[in-house]
Amino acid sequence: MVNYKVADESLAEKGKESLYIAENKMPVTAKIIRERFEKEKPLKGITIAGCLHITKETGNLARTLKAGGAEVYLCGSNPLSTQDDVAAALVQEGINVFAWHGNTDEEFYWCIRQCLDAKPNILIDDGADMIVTAHQEYEDLINSGTIIACQEETTTGVKRFKAMEKQGALKVPLFPVNDARSKNQFDNELGTGQGIVSAIYGMHVLFAGKNVVIAGYGHCSSGMALRARGLGANVTITEVDPIKALQAKFAGFNVLPILEALPNADIILTATGCKHVITPNPGVFNRLKDGVILGNLGHFDIEIPTKELYEYAKEIKPIRKDVEELIFPDGKKVYLLAKGRLANLVLSEGHPSEVMDMSFALQSLMSEFIVKNQGNFNRGIIEVPIEIDDKVGYLKLESMGVKIDTLTEEQYNYIHGYEEGT
Ligand SMILES: NC(=O)c1ccc[n+]([C@@H]2O[C@H](COP(=O)([O-])OP(=O)(O)OC[C@H]3O[C@@H](n4cnc5c(N)ncnc54)[C@H](O)[C@@H]3O)[C@@H](O)[C@H]2O)c1
Repeated sequence: MVNYKVADESLAEKGKESLYIAENKMPVTAKIIRERFEKEKPLKGITIAGCLHITKETGNLARTLKAGGAEVYLCGSNPLSTQDDVAAALVQEGINVFAWHGNTDEEFYWCIRQCLDAKPNILIDDGADMIVTAHQEYEDLINSGTIIACQEETTTGVKRFKAMEKQGALKVPLFPVNDARSKNQFDNELGTGQGIVSAIYGMHVLFAGKNVVIAGYGHCSSGMALRARGLGANVTITEVDPIKALQAKFAGFNVLPILEALPNADIILTATGCKHVITPNPGVFNRLKDGVILGNLGHFDIEIPTKELYEYAKEIKPIRKDVEELIFPDGKKVYLLAKGRLANLVLSEGHPSEVMDMSFALQSLMSEFIVKNQGNFNRGIIEVPIEIDDKVGYLKLESMGVKIDTLTEEQYNYIHGYEEGT
C-alpha cells in the first residue's frame, strides 16, 4: 500500500513526462546505478526517508533507491519547491510521497512526521529539518538503533549538524554529502549559477549592462557571479570572509560592503546561508534603487528580510507567478522573487538534471555503503569516503565518454613519498 498526500493525482501523466526528460539526462543515477541496483537489490528491506526538493531529478533518485529494494518515503524540504506533477507521478510508481507546492509551516512539519512515522533506517535531509525533528520529537526512533545513518544534502544543513555535534546533541551517524567534491563543486556552483539565470531570464530581464550585487563568494555565489558576468552584467560581491573577498577581487569582481553596494544595484542575489544579509530596517530599505530585483538562493528565506519588507511595503502586488511588486511608502517599487525562498527552484525547475545526476548518484551509492557497513558507524559527522566521491566522478566521465589518465606505480609512489628531491 502506498501512503501519500499530494496536491492533485490527475497531474501524474505530466509528471511522468518530466521524470522521463530528467531520466535521459541522468545516465549515472537513472541508468548505470539503477540497472545494477535492480539486479543486486542492495537496499532490500531498508526504509529510506528523504526530505528533499521534490523535483523531476529527486523523483529519479527515489526510483533508483526503490529499484535497489528500498521502501521510499519523500517529503518536501521547502514549502515552494515541490513540483506537484512529479509528486503525483511518484505515488503511481509506489513511492510514499507527502508533499505539495505552497504548504504551510504546520503542513510542512506534518509531512516530515509522516515520513518519520515509517521508522526509516536511512534519512536523507536537505536543510536538516527532518533529522532535527527526529531528535526533538522521535526519541524512540533515535535511541532504538533503527536509524543506521543519515545524509545531509546542503551547506546550511551541514552547518546546523556541525553546531549540534559541537553541543553533543547529534545522536546519529551523519554523512555530509554536500561536502563531497562530486557534489558541491558541481551542484552548488554550476546548478545555482545556471538556475538563477534561467529564473531571471524567465522574467524577460536583460543581464547585460545591469549592476548585479551578489552576497557571498562561496560555492553557489561564485557560480552565480561567473554566469552573471558572462551575460554582460557588472558584478559586485559582498563578503564577510577576507580570503573569499580576495578571491572575488582577484577574479576581477568589484568588492564592497553591502550598504555601499545597495544603491546602484539593479539585481541583488543572496546565497550565504546567513540571515539578514540586507539589514531589516527602513533606513536600509530606502537605499534600494527603484525597480531592483531581489532574489535569494540560500536555503532559508531570511537572507533577504522578507517579513520586514512585507511589513514596510504599503502595497504588495503579484505581477507574475512567484514574483511580487512591493511598493514602498515613497512609491519606490522593488521586485521580490519567490517570497525570498530559493528562487532557482521556485521560479525555474531547480538545477539542470545533468548536475543533479552527480549529487543523486552520490546519495544512491552512499545509501548502499551505509547498508553494507551498518553497525560500524559512531554517532556524529563522518566524511564521505573518497573512493565513493571518486566513483561518482569516474561514472560521470564514463557516461560522457571522457577518458583520463591513471597514475603509474612510479608516479603514485613519488607523490606519496618524500625520498626523491633535488
Ligand atoms: N538554491 C539552491 O539550489 C542551493 C543549492 C546549494 C546550496 N544552497 C544553499 O545556499 C547557501 C550557500 O551555500 P554554499 O555552498 O555556497 O556555501 P559556502 O559556505 O560555500 O558560501 C557561503 C559564502 O557566504 C559568505 N557569507 C556568509 N555570511 C555572509 C554575509 N552576511 N554577507 C556576505 N557574505 C556572507 C561566506 O563567507 C561564504 O563565502 C546555503 O544556504 C546552502 O544551503 C542552495
